Amino acid sequence: MNIKDLLRPTIKALKPYSSARDEFQGASDNMVFLDANENPFENGVNRYPDPLQRTLKSLWSDIKGVPTQNIMFGNGSDEVLDLIYRAFCEPNQDNVITLPPTYGMYEVLANLNAISIKKVSLDENFQPKVDKILSVVDENSKLLFVCSPNNPSGNSFNAKAIERLVSEFKGIVVIDEAYIDFSKEQSWVSKLEQFPNLIVTQTVSKAYAMAGIRLGICYASTEIISVLNAIKPPYNINELTQKKAIELLSIKDIATNQIQDILSEREKLIEALTSVNYISKIYPTDANFVLVKVDDANKRYNQLIEKGIVIRNRTTQPGCENTLRLTVGTADENKILIDTLKSI
Ligand SMILES: Cc1ncc(COP(=O)(O)O)c(C=O)c1O
Repeated sequence: MNIKDLLRPTIKALKPYSSARDEFQGASDNMVFLDANENPFENGVNRYPDPLQRTLKSLWSDIKGVPTQNIMFGNGSDEVLDLIYRAFCEPNQDNVITLPPTYGMYEVLANLNAISIKKVSLDENFQPKVDKILSVVDENSKLLFVCSPNNPSGNSFNAKAIERLVSEFKGIVVIDEAYIDFSKEQSWVSKLEQFPNLIVTQTVSKAYAMAGIRLGICYASTEIISVLNAIKPPYNINELTQKKAIELLSIKDIATNQIQDILSEREKLIEALTSVNYISKIYPTDANFVLVKVDDANKRYNQLIEKGIVIRNRTTQPGCENTLRLTVGTADENKILIDTLKSI
């Protein structure tokens, strides 16, 4: 498969903006920077940030064991997803495939970019129907979104099913691994060389406890990464985000310990949920949230809101009638949730 053939003609022909910091990169302390029309008075943020986030990228590369040239950062993984649309999908012509119930931004971004969607619902165990998915593909099907672990169901998809999709789909398969750090399954990042049409996205918003700084990660072949780097806004990751991420990622074991805590709290929460009499099903989860089926999702949602507890009502999602999605909180928060669920 030739990835260039999948790119939009506009993108293939694009000459990217070259920022001042792209043109000169050999910074050292005794240099005088008069190239970017910045204010010269130092305050920690008066200079433009590194457009390629070299220090942060090399730290992340060490953490994940992926070469820096296979990594691109976005202003949240939502920005990465938008850039993927803009690189590959021609407005009013191309289509993408989504597997509902799934993360809502794939559809919002399709609408925003004037791209049509072919939806193939997951089966009753929230697994992809591979044959059905491959049967809806046409020559304008450019992207297939595979969210594993899936939001809102929480489960990981069968690895063999994913492998068939990546091998047989003739466009780009985007595996969204926002919740991978909570999962028993391996990341697909190690398969980038095997599958040139694979893009994996991750985020520091979940397991790494940094939703507020907006930092998403894209892993792909060097060919795809260079296209995404060429079309991203030049300074998409601001200085404060880069600094804070470096600071927090440098604290040894913090993410690993928090993930362990969240996973053990998740097991306690699941156990406690079994004794709430109007919960009829607790879906298997591989993420930091649990989907449950209740007698009346709207009623229970409103009762919880009245008690000051905000959860997500997923009842309108396909295959999710009367379901609520509960994020695993601290031990104290989970106790409040359980006590309240039992009291209403
Ligand atoms: C599956 C999935 N992908 C992506 C995101 C967005 O991540 P970010 O905060 O990096 O934009 C979310 C957020 O809830 C998500 O559930």
